[in-house]
Amino acid sequence: MTARYYVTTPIYYVNAEPHLGHAYTTIVADALSRFYRLYGRETYFLTGTDEHGDKIAQAAQEAGVEAKEYADRISRLYQETWPKLKISNNDFIRTTQERHIKVVRKILSLVYDKGDIYFDKYGGYYCFGCERFYTEKELEDGLCPDHQTEPSYIEEENYFFAMSKYQDWLIGHIRDNPDFIRPERYRNEVLSFLKEPLGDLCISRPKSRLTWGITLPFDERFVTYVWFDALINYISALGFPDGDLFHKFWPAAQHIIAKDILKPHGIYWPAMLKSAGIEPYQSLNVHGYWKIGESKMSKSVGNVVEALRMKDVYGLDAFRYFLLRDMVFGLDSSFSEEALVGRINADLANDLGNLCQRSLTMVRKFGQGLVPEASDVRSEGGGMRAAGIKTVEAYVKSFESMAFHKALIAVWDLINQANKFIDREAPWTLAKDPDKKERLGGVLYQLLETLGLIAGMIYPVMPDTAQEMRRQIGLPDGFLSLDPGEIEQALPPGQAINQGQALFPRVEIGGVSAVRKDKPKPGAKPEKNEKPGTGLVSFEEFKKLDLRVGLVKAAERVPKSKKLIKVAVDLGEERTIVAGIGQDFTPEELVGRRVVILANLVPAKLMGVTSEGMMLAASDKDGLTLIAPSRETEPGSRIS
Ligand code: MSP
Repeated sequence: MTARYYVTTPIYYVNAEPHLGHAYTTIVADALSRFYRLYGRETYFLTGTDEHGDKIAQAAQEAGVEAKEYADRISRLYQETWPKLKISNNDFIRTTQERHIKVVRKILSLVYDKGDIYFDKYGGYYCFGCERFYTEKELEDGLCPDHQTEPSYIEEENYFFAMSKYQDWLIGHIRDNPDFIRPERYRNEVLSFLKEPLGDLCISRPKSRLTWGITLPFDERFVTYVWFDALINYISALGFPDGDLFHKFWPAAQHIIAKDILKPHGIYWPAMLKSAGIEPYQSLNVHGYWKIGESKMSKSVGNVVEALRMKDVYGLDAFRYFLLRDMVFGLDSSFSEEALVGRINADLANDLGNLCQRSLTMVRKFGQGLVPEASDVRSEGGGMRAAGIKTVEAYVKSFESMAFHKALIAVWDLINQANKFIDREAPWTLAKDPDKKERLGGVLYQLLETLGLIAGMIYPVMPDTAQEMRRQIGLPDGFLSLDPGEIEQALPPGQAINQGQALFPRVEIGGVSAVRKDKPKPGAKPEKNEKPGTGLVSFEEFKKLDLRVGLVKAAERVPKSKKLIKVAVDLGEERTIVAGIGQDFTPEELVGRRVVILANLVPAKLMGVTSEGMMLAASDKDGLTLIAPSRETEPGSRIS
């Protein structure tokens, strides 16, 4: 392992709100940076937004706002979304920031001075969706292969980057460094692309056609092509050329992207770096696509998964676990709510939750709730320490090679071994025999140690659950480790455990669906009043919401749920609402309150109880607060 670790996500275009695809890449980067931090590596994690170019200018125009205002709005959405997914990025870069613009101009000057930029006339087929020219050969039946739209033939004078000069060097570099592009299928894809002569890259757009971009330092009449601008974020955020961060972290750069943007990252970017005299990144890590059923997930076909909604329904850690466990990094994966619920019930509630619950219950029942003396049982062949050490090794190897699903399979194998260890050792029988006291202590101790290791291993993927397990085992605040020796030291005999609630309650399919059921047909146009990508709704759309004042008549917790409270509300008629507010309110506090209810939400079953609306609440760092009218308004009054 290198001493430092620098992980980046793509910077996302500000023409779409964050969705499952963006969330996946960003959660992967987060899990990696938590993993390396846990190891004491100095880690730096960067994400951000890509804000220039045709695509954004057009989207802003459609929304009827200035490009900057539009970019500010969507970029803010990303910045607000990531903390809700517990993304621990160190920085968030925006390509409209002065610190970035400065570095783009610097790189352009370096490449220009090197003699790698020339001016030429060019005619070609341009796709506005992709923001690039296509050769005739690349088009499918004359259409853009990605958008299936007819490209426009454009002829104009532009600046070109002599990328072809670096073709041989790049082939050599990829061949000599097996981890430069991984997994292998994408390395092969780039190599096979490089078998054909590489053209040069058009890196400017005349201001007569587009002004929303970074002006070229050597010709005021042009702005920079958005990809030449965007890729530079990875070093502008580190303060290239003199910043400490750049010197410390650039040599350890690991980019995470999906396969859609392999070519700019695998070809343009290394060539740009080489030309500017900068070392290439260490690795480009390429994952596949999340699909919904068999169709590609994209904003334009409407099958967007609202990532945040998923986490609200099923919990953030379960959501993060599912994404990393179900996708084989590098391959495509199909998303379904059924699969998510299946994983929660089988892996989380059953395997992990049960192991934790039964182990701690036994420490409480047979060991007075105190860490027992670690006896020599753990050195026996069947002991859990050896199994734990082996698991950590397999887990680390898999994590380092981005095989997150394998890392988690290894952890779950240990969980199953521990569950079997309990059945084999039968502590309830040992407890009946005073001569077996030492052995009983050894068994219970090993379970605590194993739970400690499991907490350490799941931390990068499920940070909150790991901390809760740590707390329940009685490990010191913030302590997480993958070293059984360290865990033993942190678990001195006689220290109290703090058994708490089950880590994961079982859930039922049919919780509020996070997948839009009203999937428009591919290629369908947005609804009349929809402003694509702006996050704005029209007045007509707002009017569809039936918001009403409700009076809470009765409330009770939904059995086995930490969060859900079932509420009977008077809305002029009586309704049952299931609200996820159980961590901030008790049922008693709710009765007699006036609240705001969304009364025409599609009914949904939450843990077996049908909810006929939604109670509105706001949240900040102190938790949830309920929205209420300023006087005792008549129940059922419409809100408009
Ligand atoms: N702005 C460029 C990237 C510039 S990086 C210098 C861009 N932005 S994007 O908003 O379109 O984001 C693309 C990335 O979002 C993918 O590479 C991937 O990380 C993520 N995903 C978007 N949809 C996805 C899926 N359906 N599945 C998995 N990840 C996907 O391209």
